[in-house]
Amino acid sequence: MSLLDVEGLTVAFRGERGEATAVEDVWLHLDPGEILGVVGESGSGKSVTALSIMGLLPEPAARVAQGRVVFEGAVLTGMAEHRLRRIRGPGIGMVFQEPMTSLNPVFPIGEQITETLAAHGERDGAKQRDRAVEMLERVGIPSAAQRLGDYPHQISGEQRQRVMIAMALACRSGRQWPSRGRSRWGTGPRRPGSGPCACQRTCFRRAGFTIAST
Ligand SMILES: Nc1ncnc2c1ncn2[C@@H]1O[C@H](COP(=O)(O)OP(=O)(O)OP(=O)(O)O)[C@@H](O)[C@H]1O
Ligand SMILES: [Mg+2]
Repeated sequence: MSLLDVEGLTVAFRGERGEATAVEDVWLHLDPGEILGVVGESGSGKSVTALSIMGLLPEPAARVAQGRVVFEGAVLTGMAEHRLRRIRGPGIGMVFQEPMTSLNPVFPIGEQITETLAAHGERDGAKQRDRAVEMLERVGIPSAAQRLGDYPHQISGEQRQRVMIAMALACRSGRQWPSRGRSRWGTGPRRPGSGPCACQRTCFRRAGFTIAST
């Protein structure tokens, strides 16, 4: 069974002068273990496509006008919110492109990871902490146990992105959708739009993830 199929996805936004089509007739196919990079100019619809897959389009402004998203055989388009919530996190994770707007600046990173774990059902504080350390180690943050108390502004931009990935990993997410792979990932310059860099791929591969860059 394929992991993900996007079939003829068309998304429209309502404005004062009627509807405008933001994404038109997008088809994607992803098998387990596959890596898919989506490349396109700014405004071409990468984020809107990713948000549609996650069922996170801004409503009521946006709507899926045509097509559907099928994940592990289940049709996500039009699925009830309570069912979608069970798929987001454990099934599909999303790493947003700007960690400074996604991480809360007033809480230590460890707390933000354990909060995610709590939201997904882990109540034991010691287990939450152990898992947070394990996840930070897994994404390559050195001295992870000592980093738990750091605030987002105390770590580098690259490490903040790793923390975002650790949060998605902590939910035992099987797949990642890093929103834009154009960030600074450690090991030297990359061409914009060239997909996830080697370091990022290693992080995900180590975790056994399928990724797509949007
Ligand atoms: N909230 C919104 N209301 C109206 N139109 C929107 C909204 N969000 C996105 N769009 C439109 O949808 C289209 C696709 O935008 P999207 O953000 O998906 O582009 P992108 O490929 O992710 O660009 P970037 O590389 O800059 O991140 C654009 O034309 C954009 O103006
Ligand atoms: Mg985008």
